[in-house]
Amino acid sequence: MSTRPRRPAPSTPAPGRLPLPELAEMKRRGDKIVVVTAYDAPSGRLADEAGVDLILVGDTAGMVMHGHPSTVPVSMDEMVFMCRWVTRGARRPIVIGDLPFGSYQVSDEEAVRSAIRFVKEGGADVVKLEGAGPMVSRVRAIIEAGIPVMGHVGLTPQTATALGGFKAQGRTADKAKRLEEDALALEAVGCFAIVLEAVPAPVASRVTSVLQVPTIGIGAGAGCDGQVLVWHDLLGFTESTPRFVKRYAEIGAEIRHALEHYVDDVRDGRFPEQQHTYAMPADELAAFERSR
Ligand code: KIV
Repeated sequence: MSTRPRRPAPSTPAPGRLPLPELAEMKRRGDKIVVVTAYDAPSGRLADEAGVDLILVGDTAGMVMHGHPSTVPVSMDEMVFMCRWVTRGARRPIVIGDLPFGSYQVSDEEAVRSAIRFVKEGGADVVKLEGAGPMVSRVRAIIEAGIPVMGHVGLTPQTATALGGFKAQGRTADKAKRLEEDALALEAVGCFAIVLEAVPAPVASRVTSVLQVPTIGIGAGAGCDGQVLVWHDLLGFTESTPRFVKRYAEIGAEIRHALEHYVDDVRDGRFPEQQHTYAMPADELAAFERSR
């Protein structure tokens, strides 16, 4: 039986959770905010133990976990499942449910319904959605329903086709200005933080300085208030990684090496050994052998 305390109802912050207003304080103090993605309970626990501030249950799961070529096919059900797993593992970090493509674009009502599912069924503390423009109204509606929202501008992978592919955004003066305006519009309706993805570092630094709320960069340079990386990229599960990723381990190679070792051991009879087997009383064994 596990002795872990059960999480309380998700409408109130779990005991020990980092309070959301602390993020604005961190920006004010200049303390960097650390975010990582995670998709299951052990990863949530490890991120918590390592001192991560926020965990994003990202729809990147579609690519790094589920084998899709993009994040678009990921369903709300899949996201809620993964969120529930992560919130079983993580105690202190704020857990963000990433609204997948198709769960919020159609209407404000649908966006609110999807966000509520994340909180009620997935145990998320807050949600994230991609884009500005028409999505600003979705953000406002979700916040009015009582759920904090993280914005996301720059490269928005759910609409990468419309952006011309997975490439850096805001690389002309006009586009950089529009990106800044999008971030300000998201802040104006109440986003508690904004992800800046694949944006030139000087643009991200300026957006960070004009916003009151923290920016969380991914491929946006060191001037952001915090950083987010995808679990599989930073730990080296994936074959190739975008240029903005720093790989802190080569876990994929380590796993392959361990599995090759296991395959060789089984094929060559080196596994299992005596210590991996169960004994039985000698008289029972003798009786069993006589029963042949
Ligand atoms: O889904 C995700 O993991 C994300 C990050 C790349 C920011 O949105």
